[in-house]
Amino acid sequence: MDKLLVEGGRVLSGTVSISGAKNACLPILAATLLTEEECTVNNVPDLKDVATMVEILSSLGRDAEKVDGVVKVASGSISDITASYDLVSTMRASITVLGPLLAKYGEAKVSFPGGCVIGPRPIDLHLKGLRALGAEIRIEKGYIVASARKLKGTRVYLGGHFGSSVLATANTLMAAVLAEGETLIENAACEPEVKDLADFLISMGADISGEGTPTINVRGVNELKGATHSVIADRIEAGTYMIGAVITGGNIFLEGAVPEHNVALIDKLGECGGMVSERDGGLEVTVHRGRRPATDVTTLTYPGFPTDLQAQMMSLGAVSEGISVITEKIYPERFIHISELNRMGADIILEGPTAIVKGVKKLSGARVMASDLRASAALVLAGLVADGCTEISRVYHLDRGYENLEQKLSAVGAKVWREKE
Ligand code: EPZ
Repeated sequence: MDKLLVEGGRVLSGTVSISGAKNACLPILAATLLTEEECTVNNVPDLKDVATMVEILSSLGRDAEKVDGVVKVASGSISDITASYDLVSTMRASITVLGPLLAKYGEAKVSFPGGCVIGPRPIDLHLKGLRALGAEIRIEKGYIVASARKLKGTRVYLGGHFGSSVLATANTLMAAVLAEGETLIENAACEPEVKDLADFLISMGADISGEGTPTINVRGVNELKGATHSVIADRIEAGTYMIGAVITGGNIFLEGAVPEHNVALIDKLGECGGMVSERDGGLEVTVHRGRRPATDVTTLTYPGFPTDLQAQMMSLGAVSEGISVITEKIYPERFIHISELNRMGADIILEGPTAIVKGVKKLSGARVMASDLRASAALVLAGLVADGCTEISRVYHLDRGYENLEQKLSAVGAKVWREKE
């Protein structure tokens, strides 16, 4: 396994080009199963999770290949309806093949996705949406076994204990586009990645309205065509680098970042001494000299503050002036980064789903362990401002969600490199 080493004390300055969004391209790749015609997906990031999704499509019998940021899914039918444990267990988003397989082929067998360090990852809303469309679903030997002669349009409410669900909305939407009649999805997820999926489905011939709002309306069609689509920019990658600019007191231009996808973070960074402006098809982030006041964060569904930037904001709070109160409303257990940040000298305590972060003057470099994709990014940000060198082990977590991380950080002045563990 590799480890990442980060030398502290460098100010980030320069331009970072933002890659395509991991959480948009994964369901979009699954959606190619809804047609037997060739599909081309552009602006696909070079990430482990993308490689896994391409492997799942191939394992189902659709030849998929990624070359230089472009995934081509060849025309043809599937030869299998099973998404296997060894693939699904490494990536939860694999569950999004369920809706398309059911809609197109009337059956699917998908390994039950595991939980992970950010907490239990239930799928009750996925099953609720598909059952509402008429699917028969049972759990057998760790697999979700689903079948449906013909899905029928319906009205289904997808709000759960923690609000809307991104991938349950995606699964239900992908099943509805080929269902008979009209479907109304209420309390749908509004994340930009759901809208990007809908845009791809519409380019394939789906009849959808209300995407990006809490109520999505679908009128089923008989078949979908192949299409070409370019994935939106990754707002979480962009947000991670925006926080990097503020935490190091630097100045970064994020090429291709979409301002309206990061409104909550832009608002928060304004409270922490950051200044974010739009220019030339991207976002410029600078800081007020010196002061870096603490701010409070509560994660919510979109357009609220994203849970995927909570850990990164905690690193900023760890070195801000004052106390930051960070409350996690989406994944109440998503705090594994606290113990690692405290190893670096942070002063953070956890009270249920709320972290109390007392800003300290300096963090010190230490050996820490990556655990979850975004917690690992938080450790990199902390390493950028810590005294000395920080060694982050199990860096494969980062490779799941950040394309060319060392190269992008080095290009804006960070001293970061990879070594064998
Ligand atoms: C997507 O996961 C993202 N992953 C996650 O990003 C992100 O954190 C999450 O949305 C929330 O924004 C991808 O898009 C591949 P949810 P998803 O269903 O769809 C509960 C990253 O780091 N829930 O919106 O699986 C769930 O437990 C990853 O890139 C149910 O109760 O998340 C959570 O508390 C991490 N029942 C809340 O809803 C369900 O059936 C939101 O989860 C489904 C979810």
